[in-house]
Order: sequence, then structure tokens, then C-alpha cells
Amino acid sequence: DNRTNSTTGSAPAAGPAPTVDMMDPALMRDPFGGYARMREQAPLVRGSFFGRGTPIWLVTRYDDVKMVLGDPRFVNNPANVPGLDIENIREKEIEARGIPREYAQYVLDSVLDADGADHIRLRKLVSRTFTARRVAELRPRVEQITEGLLDRLAGTADDGVVDLMEHFAYPLPITVICELVGIPEQDRAQWREWGKALVTLQSGGMADALRDMVGHIHELIERRRVAPTADLLSGLIRTHDEDGDRLSDTEMVTLVLTLILAGHETTAHLIGNGTAALLTHPDQLALLRKDPGMMRGAVHELMRWCGPVQATRLRYAARDVEVGGMPVAKGEAVMAVLVGANHDPREFDHPERLDITREPDGRRENHVGFGHGLHYCLGAALARQEGEVAFEALLRRFPDLALAVRPEELERQMMPGSWRLARLPLRL
Ligand code: HEM
Repeated sequence: DNRTNSTTGSAPAAGPAPTVDMMDPALMRDPFGGYARMREQAPLVRGSFFGRGTPIWLVTRYDDVKMVLGDPRFVNNPANVPGLDIENIREKEIEARGIPREYAQYVLDSVLDADGADHIRLRKLVSRTFTARRVAELRPRVEQITEGLLDRLAGTADDGVVDLMEHFAYPLPITVICELVGIPEQDRAQWREWGKALVTLQSGGMADALRDMVGHIHELIERRRVAPTADLLSGLIRTHDEDGDRLSDTEMVTLVLTLILAGHETTAHLIGNGTAALLTHPDQLALLRKDPGMMRGAVHELMRWCGPVQATRLRYAARDVEVGGMPVAKGEAVMAVLVGANHDPREFDHPERLDITREPDGRRENHVGFGHGLHYCLGAALARQEGEVAFEALLRRFPDLALAVRPEELERQMMPGSWRLARLPLRL
């Protein structure tokens, strides 16, 4: 495991550390080693993200990450920091991420960008759908979708090899979240393509995808208005039409967009990363095959060890504040590096080891792979369940499941703050 080497690799450099570019290919290739070195250097390290002019602080230690995400002196929306030049910040963001201007509101004003009462209002509109109880009720349906996909998996084999990402890891979560939200079956493959175009930030591709997605949601809203169903979208339309103060038009579209995008890409990569991790750790795999009752704890550990989201959105200091004893000035931006926290030896013994028995009864979730605090992942219960169902079914149905390439040949998608496989070639 080359992570072990890199985490214990070179000694911290003396003198002021250079600014870390999160787009640096070396860091994206080995985020575990890279962030470990920062974590040992200092509580805060200067970073830059997406080539933005403004420097940010990277926070990599477990306690500090939890503090930043849990402390109300940090806000998600820079507009809530008095005195900041918000227009300028927004302009830079639009430019750096190549967001088409007329659609910026749908990307920059989501529940993740809201603070205080606004945030609570938006989150409440959808949170009931994602409670542990509602998610548990959904389990039989998630199992059914899973079995259906696995029934067809062998048929996709090319020379005995299947790409699990393409034929299972992606289709499962997109199907589940689209069903929940109310996206018709025939449109789901299209959403998958749009999602891809957005996250890979293909030049030019993003503007089209965003325009099409927003257009499609508007169209669906009109259809559901005429013929409401039991889905989440129909519920939102009712709220909007009865009480426009609680949910504006743009907010409704943005909320739906956020749920679909947040709900499928991430979960797909939990399934991909998690499967690859188990297949490259035969001892852990054997434990889990022997006792599927360990699945809950195993998913917590896979989230800690190879969770797909490695850093959160920026947080802005609404006033001067200290993190790990170092000052952050009012208005400065901080990024919580979840992978740093999840591999911090201050919190986890031998963090580089994949050990599915860390939380044997699976009740406690000690990692921060789903974030922490008020913006803690709304879909965490759903994502965990999809992971549990997916791993259980894969292992049960394919006793000889194995990587079709050497572990070091697994191809990663290079995205800052994200840990993803481009493909996962397997032999069933
Ligand atoms: C927020 C990770 C699946 C919806 C977050 C955050 C993280 C995260 C780290 C916090 C970001 C921050 O504080 O800046 C993940 C991972 C997933 C996953 C690793 C899969 C393994 C899902 C699913 C949904 C979802 C299935 C579908 C409902 C959301 C939403 C937020 C969020 C709406 C924003 C919550 C808020 O701002 O209050 N997620 N997520 N996520 N996630 Fe997830």
C-alpha cells in the first residue's frame, strides 16, 4: 500500500511553507500523503483552489476540522460576513469555475451556501424524506434495484471484464435519488450524462448541461403541477404554490438540482472506492464475507479510509477567530480537509490501516466523511444504506469477485477535493 509510505514520508520543511495548489496533479494523485504532510506542518496551511486569486487556509487536523465545521463564527455564504466585497468574490467564483452567468444562481445559492434561518428553512423542506426511518422504509426498494442491476451485470462483460462504475456504482444511486425526487425513468440516463459534464468541468460542456438540467426541472414542475404524485418534487410544488414565502421558484429548482447531483456522484464513488478497498484487502474482505453483520461498521470504516469527498465547501470567518492556536482574520476563507481529519493519528490508531472492526457494532460514526455540524450531509443515511446494500449483494452474488487490473493500474479521476475511480474493471 503506497499510502503507508507517503504518509510517513518526508519530514516537514523548515521556514514558511509555500502555498499549496489543490489542483497540483501530485497532490490529486496522492492526497493521503500530501495532506498528511500539511497536517504535520501546521494547523493551518496556505492553499489555493481552482486558481482563485484569493488564498485560503487548509485545515487538516481532526479536532480543528470539527471545530471549523461546528463553530457559528464560520459561515458558508460570504455575504454573511459584514464588509466583504461579495460581488467581487462571486465574480471570481463564476470565472474560476466557468459557470455560465445566467445560471450562476442555481449553482451558487444552494442549501450549502445558506446560513442561519435561510439554511434551516431550506433544509427543513426536504429533510423529512431523508430521516433514518424514511430511509429504512426504502431499503427493500434499494435492494430490488440492486439485484436488478446485478442480474444484468454479467451480460455487460467484455472478455470477462466488467466496469463496475459504469454498470453498477453509477446506475444504483442515480436510480434511487431520481425515484425519490420524481425524475421519470426515461430521463435518468440523461441526468447521469449531465452530472458527468458538470463534475468533470469539461470546457463548454458545463454551460449546456446546466441549461438543460434547469430546463428539464422547470418542465417537470409544470407536468407535476397538472398531475401531482407522491414524490418529493410534487411536495415542493405544493409548498411553493401554497406559501411562496417559504420557497421561491429559483430555490425550488436549485434544491432539486442539488439533491440529484449531491445524491448520485458521491454515492457512486463510495461504492467504487469501497469495493476496490475491500478487494485489495483480502483479510478485511474475508472478515466481512464471514459475518455480513459487520457491514454497518465496515461502511463507516470505508467512508473514513476512502470516502469520496475529501474536502468541504469553503467556510468564511465572520469575525477574527483562532483555529488550532493560529489566527484566521475576519473574512478569510477556510477549507476543511476531511481526508486529513479522517487519517489523523491524533484521532485514529494506525489511520493508514483499513480495519472494518474499528466500530464493531456500527452504531458510532467517528469519521467526518459526511461533514459535521449544521451542514452535515443530508443524505448520509441514504448513502450508507446504498453502500451497505451494494457491498452485501456484490459479495454474496460473486464469491470470486476480483480486480481485473493490478491495484496500481486503477485509474483515478483527477478532481481536487475528490477521490474517485475513472473505471473499476472487475472479474465476476
Ligand atoms: C452535504 C458528503 C451523499 C445530499 C454533504 C457534505 C459532505 C457530504 C461532506 C458537507 C459539505 C460541507 O459541509 O461543505 C457526501 C458523501 C456522500 C453523500 C461522501 C456519499 C457517500 C449524499 C446523498 C444526498 C446528499 C445521497 C442526497 C440527498 C447532501 C446535501 C448536502 C450534503 C443536500 C447539503 C446539506 C446542507 O448544506 O445542510 N454531503 N454526501 N449527499 N449532502 Fe451529501
